[in-house]
Amino acid sequence: MIQVRGLRKVYRVGVEEIHALRGVNLQIGSNEMVAIMGASGSGKSTLMNIVGCLDRPTAGRYELDGVEVGRMDSEQLAYVRNEKIGFVFQSFELLPRQDALRNVELPLIYSRSQLDGSTRRRRAEAALERVGLADRMDHRPNQLSGGQKQRVAIARAILNEPAILLADEPTGNLDSQTTVEILGIFAKLHAAGQTIIIVTHENEVAAHCHRVVRLRDGEILSDLPIAQDAASQYVAAAHAGAAKGSA
Ligand SMILES: Nc1ncnc2c1ncn2[C@@H]1O[C@H](COP(=O)(O)OP(=O)(O)OP(=O)(O)O)[C@@H](O)[C@H]1O
Ligand SMILES: [Mg+2]
Repeated sequence: MIQVRGLRKVYRVGVEEIHALRGVNLQIGSNEMVAIMGASGSGKSTLMNIVGCLDRPTAGRYELDGVEVGRMDSEQLAYVRNEKIGFVFQSFELLPRQDALRNVELPLIYSRSQLDGSTRRRRAEAALERVGLADRMDHRPNQLSGGQKQRVAIARAILNEPAILLADEPTGNLDSQTTVEILGIFAKLHAAGQTIIIVTHENEVAAHCHRVVRLRDGEILSDLPIAQDAASQYVAAAHAGAAKGSA
């Protein structure tokens, strides 16, 4: 579904060139659940932005469902982004003056789908129900907890039934209890067939994914099934520690 070959991204700031991605090869299939990890500045968000069609690579190929994305113009990119990709960010990115329902519904207003108002509302309500927020639809963001805000953002991201759900540190602003709740929602979506890519610093989050891609200085350091990645060993150790502590 996602096929990336020799992907490079160079940012120019004044006379300086920053090589954010230095030849990344990556293939992600339908219904995978992948964690992208790596130190700050290793290129995780840069990679996500390119995969999400928010940005274009400097060099290399990116094919999404067999279509070369690198050659698309801005309008085609915007179309692919709308139709195929859902985004979730650390900072939720909700509109403060609009209630949850309206926040979820808004992308449909701007999409080409031309749905009428009541159909849009029904779809937004269904998405909020999927993330367990049926009882908070008329709350504005400042009337919601962090976890509830992130649920609204997830509902908004899945509204168009995107082929890929991209989440950049979705639990970065959440406590561990709420993190577990949000991971539960991702697990549910994955079980329903969703392809999910999560950027995270937390081993605990990566341990809920099935594959872990680690970046270092713009290159892939490792790409392993979770059972072979350090994240699973970390979680196993944490569980063993907890069991010891309660004994
Ligand atoms: N718009 C930009 N202009 C110039 N340099 C940038 C830009 N965006 C990112 N960079 C640089 O590219 C490199 C990779 O940045 P990126 O945001 O992808 O890292 P990251 O792995 O997501 O880090 P973090 O964990 O802190 O979010 C960094 O050195 C960063 O300073
Ligand atoms: Mg980042």
